[in-house]
Amino acid sequence: MLLTEIDHIAVAVKDLEAAIAHYRQAFGAEVCHREVVEKDGVEEALLKVADSYIQLTRATRPDSPIARSIEKRGEGLHHVGYRVADCQQAYDAMVAAGATPIDPAPRPGSRGTTVAFFHPKTSFGTLIELVQENPTPAH
Ligand code: CO
Repeated sequence: MLLTEIDHIAVAVKDLEAAIAHYRQAFGAEVCHREVVEKDGVEEALLKVADSYIQLTRATRPDSPIARSIEKRGEGLHHVGYRVADCQQAYDAMVAAGATPIDPAPRPGSRGTTVAFFHPKTSFGTLIELVQENPTPAH
């Protein structure tokens, strides 16, 4: 079994501040990490739940995948991040199982992770992100 944890569920939102405020009011949830990933055109806020995260994500520009998703499907669940020990190993296993990668190879994600996305059409309608956590560099 290559999956070690549900790393995160990603929710596409239009107004990140409003979504954070809603989760705070409803659940007492606090943001534990916030990051703009310029390359992907997203800003995300992570809320920790046990050893997983809820990732609230907004688009930072009109050609962002999050912007296109909200345009097509509205706000809501966007993808599931599955945590793995070795992203390349899981990537190869998914390709061998017939899944179509969106990323040509594992690449840097937020929080210093290594990630790779797979197309929903080859994984029963779910956009899958493989997430490998890496040791935090010493400060
Ligand atoms: Co993600």
